[in-house]
Parts: sequence; structure tokens; C-alpha cells
Amino acid sequence: MKIELRSARRSIAEIKAQLYAVGVVSGQLTEAALELDQKLDGALSRYLRRTKFRGAEGEVRYLELEAHPVLLVGLGMKRHLELERVRRLGGLVAREVLRLGFREAAVENFFWEKFGKDEAAYALAEGLYLGSYVFDRYKSEPGAKRVRYWIARGRGRAVEAAVRMAGATAYARDLVNEPPNALTPEALAEAARGLARELGLDVSVLGPEEMEDKGMGALLAVGRGSAHPPRLVHLVYRPEGSVRAKVALVGKGMTFDTGGYSLKPRESMVGMKSDMAGAATVLGAMRVVAEARPSVEVHAVIAAAENRISDRAYLVDEVIRTMSGKTVEVKNTDAEGRLVLADALWYAGFEAPDAVISVATLTGAARVALGERIAALYATQPRLLEALREAGAAEGETLWPMPLERAYRKKLISHVADIANVGDRNGGSIQAALFLAEFVRDPYAHLDIAGPAFLKEAWELGPAGATGFATRSLARYLLGL
Ligand code: BES
Ligand code: ZN
Ligand code: ZN
Repeated sequence: MKIELRSARRSIAEIKAQLYAVGVVSGQLTEAALELDQKLDGALSRYLRRTKFRGAEGEVRYLELEAHPVLLVGLGMKRHLELERVRRLGGLVAREVLRLGFREAAVENFFWEKFGKDEAAYALAEGLYLGSYVFDRYKSEPGAKRVRYWIARGRGRAVEAAVRMAGATAYARDLVNEPPNALTPEALAEAARGLARELGLDVSVLGPEEMEDKGMGALLAVGRGSAHPPRLVHLVYRPEGSVRAKVALVGKGMTFDTGGYSLKPRESMVGMKSDMAGAATVLGAMRVVAEARPSVEVHAVIAAAENRISDRAYLVDEVIRTMSGKTVEVKNTDAEGRLVLADALWYAGFEAPDAVISVATLTGAARVALGERIAALYATQPRLLEALREAGAAEGETLWPMPLERAYRKKLISHVADIANVGDRNGGSIQAALFLAEFVRDPYAHLDIAGPAFLKEAWELGPAGATGFATRSLARYLLGL
């Protein structure tokens, strides 16, 4: 689907479009809605009087007026008003526009008086874009090919920035939604190569032989059971002028996670194509960076593999040697993410970055703890933690601080190797983060997106499936450095 967003200086009543979307707050038409009402000879105010539509948050009414079709959008109360509401209302409007079969709509810049035209238009545009997202390339009868929105009293620059962010999120969603028979580790590496070519990034891809040379025993072990060999992808964005900071992003790219010999129960295996969401997020963030061109050097390292069973697959009780030289006792082949990340993090360390950030659908425990809307955030330094949290909040993504509790480190003690890949059931997400921290230097942050990366049901900003969660947070963090 091609999603076009345009900003218009004019008021909504002066724009020509198939459909108008205007707001209602506490039973009152907004200023923009009143202007439109005049043009429509009071049809909107008559409707409000007749139906007592109050406009609770997210409530929408489609009016098939003779003069012109209109979508009345409940904006909710002015109390507890946050910018995120604008984004979600945008998503809601988009989903309604598509459901009704329209290909074009003019939308008022909701609450611009409160947030300013830039901020409001930015959030609204992101919402409209994300809410229009569909993944229908495998449908014999795909839906609409194109949709266009006009944001009345918008701001061109803000809308452009929003399209860049939301476009990259949609790109990440596409990668995650891609089925595992299409998106193998090789295909993921190919996608990264394509991105590099398109945007002028440096790229290198390591296959099993190079990994062998470098001693990446963990990534090799996890990938060994599959006919689709693992890949390690390294992308680099280098700014033109001075470099203010150097950051490495590391993504888990498990293109499918069966659990291996510690096989997942059948219900838990469904959706495990999304186990490369960390990698997709990192690629999405690189897309924004390459387009916005900040003065930060950014390295993206992706560990891509498929975790499955065969006569070659790795076993529990195996001891593997990571690139760092540390040995790991495999106690559970389903805790494979931390293994592949151990090598990827170590590899990223050779760039001597000022900060390393890993993103991974790492533990079911993070989803149990925080649910589907919130990611677990770990950091070795408060400044890094705050910066990421703020970037997330600005994009409406909750990255919640979690403790790197040293006392739990002993759960990972192994009797035969330097460390074990699992401990006990308690604090599983923390144990995983502690494991990863063994393979990087400070400052280090880790995002466990197992909850929000992939949803069973549609939400305000998109359909069921991949969300592209944390793409915008990471990009925003990098652009703010
Ligand atoms: N990919 C899973 C984590 C996951 C679970 C992501 C649910 C998304 C939704 C990961 O590789 C895994 O299986 N982790 C194990 C770790 C355990 C064996 C310590 C888990 O969470 O059960
Ligand atoms: Zn697993
Ligand atoms: Zn996994």
C-alpha cells in the first residue's frame, strides 16, 4: 500500500477531498469542524443536537451527508491530554477510512492549539501512516493500493519527518510479517544489503566460514541445525562532517525459533517468525538515520539464524566457545537469543562504540511481566537509560526500566563452563540481560521487546501482527544525540 501524506496550510473547509475527518470534544464541534459545518449548512451541528453524540475518545461516526461525507471523531476530554492521543486518533481515523473504502481524506490537525502545529501534525501524520499499514502481499485479492491524506493547517516539515519515521516502522513490520519460508537468514542478510545499496550504507555479511575464522561458536551452534546457514550482518552509517558519537545497535535475527531440542509447545511456536523483530527494528532505525543524516556514526550488527532441529542441531549439555573466548554450557536450546547476541555484541565491541544497544524478542518472561504494550529496558548507566526512555515516550512507546540485579548473576553459574545460558524461572528477563552484559563494555542498554513486537489483535496503530515497536524510539534517540 502506498500511503501519501500531505500538509495543507488551508483550513479543512477549503480542501477538496472525498472525506472530511473533524473532531468533537464534550459534545462540541472543534473550530475546524465549525468551519466545515458552515460550509455544510449546519448539518454537523444538527447531527450533534439530534443524537447527543458527545465524542468520547476514539468514538467515530460516519455521516453520509448529501452535501459531503464526513467522519466525526470523538477526541475525548481535554483533561489528561497527551500527544500520544493525537497519534492514536490518527491511527483510528486511518483504519476507519480504509474500512469505509475511501482512498482520500482531509483531516484536521487535532489539538494543534494545545501542542503547536508542528508537534500535533507530526503525531497525527505518524498515526495516519501507521494506521494505514496492511500486509497483504500474500493475499490473492489485496486491498487498496494507495491512500492519501491531507492534514489541514499542517506543517510540511513535520509531516515529512513523520513519514520518515512511520515509513521505517512499516519497513520493519514488513520484514517481521514476512513468513519464515521466505525470510531465511540469507534473505534477511539480502534485505540488509538491499537497504545499504538503496541508502548508501557500508555493509558486510559474514557466512559460516568467516564466523568459524572469527571464532563465533555461539552463533554457529545455534544456526547449525538448519539447512539455512546463519549470517552476521554489519551495516555502517558514517556522517559527512564531524562525528559527535559512535553507537552500535545489535539485533536478534532469529528468522524462526522452534526452540530446538528444548522444543516449544505447539501453541508457543506460532508467531515465532517474529523472533527477528530486534533485527528488523535495528534495520528500520538505520533507514531513518540514513535518510535524516545526523552527525552520529551508527553501526548495526545483526545475528541471523534459524533455531531448529536436525541431526546436526546443537544439544543441551553442549559447551560452546563464544567469540569472546568465554565458554557457555547450553542448558536450554530455546534460550538461543542470548547466545547469538553474545557473539554479535562482542563483534560490535571491536568498533569501540560510545554506547551499545541491543534489541531482541528475548524472553517470554518480559512479556509476562510487562504485557504486550511495554518493552523491558536495561542499562548500565542512568544517563543512557533516561535518554532512551525519553525518546520512547516522545514516540508513544513505553520502555520501562528494569534492574540489572547483580545478585541474580549466580543463577547462571555453570559447573562445566564459564557461564550457563539459563538459570531458574524467576526473573527470567533480568537473567537474560545479565548474561548479555557479560559480552559488552559500558555503557550498554538492552531492550527486550518480546511483549510488544508482535500482537495477536489489531490495535490503535495497526493490524494484528508486527508492530515495528522501538524502531521510532531508537531512531529518535539517535537523531537526538
Ligand atoms: N524467542 C523466545 C522469547 C519469546 C517468547 C519471544 C514469547 C516472543 C514471545 C526466546 O528465544 C525464548 O524462547 N526464551 C525462553 C528462555 C528460557 C528458556 C530461559 C523463554 O522465554 O521461555
Ligand atoms: Zn528461544
Ligand atoms: Zn528466540
